[in-house]
Amino acid sequence: MFDAEKFIKKAVDAIKSEVNGKAVIATSGGVDSTVAAKIGSMALGKNLVAIYVDTGYMRKGEDEKVKKIIERMDIKLHYVDASDEFYRALAGIKDPERKRKIIGEKFIRVFEREASKENAEYLIQGTIAPDWIESGGGLRDTIKSHHNVGGLPIDMNLKIVEPLRDLYKDEVRRVARALKLEVAERQPFPGPGLAIRIMGEATAEKAKVIREACYIVEEEIEKAVKEEKMSEPWQYFAVLLPVKTVGVHGDKRAYGYTIAIRSVESVDAMTADFSKIPYEVLDQISTRMTNEMKEVNRIIYDITNKPPGTVEWE
Ligand code: XMP
Repeated sequence: MFDAEKFIKKAVDAIKSEVNGKAVIATSGGVDSTVAAKIGSMALGKNLVAIYVDTGYMRKGEDEKVKKIIERMDIKLHYVDASDEFYRALAGIKDPERKRKIIGEKFIRVFEREASKENAEYLIQGTIAPDWIESGGGLRDTIKSHHNVGGLPIDMNLKIVEPLRDLYKDEVRRVARALKLEVAERQPFPGPGLAIRIMGEATAEKAKVIREACYIVEEEIEKAVKEEKMSEPWQYFAVLLPVKTVGVHGDKRAYGYTIAIRSVESVDAMTADFSKIPYEVLDQISTRMTNEMKEVNRIIYDITNKPPGTVEWE
């Protein structure tokens, strides 16, 4: 039986003996990196500095949320707006694995830059078990290269520390609850962010579209949960497809993007079932998206379980 308190004590001791000097923590505001930040700061105190990178593929309002989360833990934060750098690096890139690798490498370059300003030699990451298992882990087929594992460049000059490496998502949440972190119940958000929710080239213009679409899905589902029309899914978001379809807006022909809604139930992210969302809620999401986003004229709902699908589309 997993014991969160025991785990925390062991993880803090392990960081104390592994890290000699200063470390930076790659933080995204998600459960994994926030737990890693808290454990890191319990071990290192002021020798830990958090880095939050705005990649241009973050959710709406995320910057402010992350700043608050890190401030509350009393950790110094470097906020880096690297959106143009990420957009440039991904220009013309359509292949999902290449996108993931480029993002992984970019992250590390930004972390290296920020770490050298702090004279830190260590990078703490919130990598959890499914990240490296699905990235191949040396033994298995690569399902997808998680940005914090398979996307790491070989010539990186930071020493990686991964306190949550052996944990599954449900265990990380238990640790987060034991640490009384407000992010404990937050839905997961992938490190590569909205870039892997844009099928094909992840341009700045498409990032804007998917950011709004994800925001609408989150708002409508959370509203329906509050109104007790449904229970809160494990994860819920939108995906921007590379197909345009013909529609009609008013009495005019429209030719717009297709958005897929994805919502799943899971425990540990290794398997998942698609959520049985009430039609009424899907209807509301669809109507809102097509009314508020003039670039979008078709909405579909993904009814694939994992396996054979994965949670994210790329
Ligand atoms: P998949 O798509 O692999 O997703 O079934 C399982 C869970 O992991 C999240 N995910 C990621 N998280 N870096 C992360 O930190 C990544 O590269 C990554 N890819 C997927 C996904 O959102 C889901 O919760």
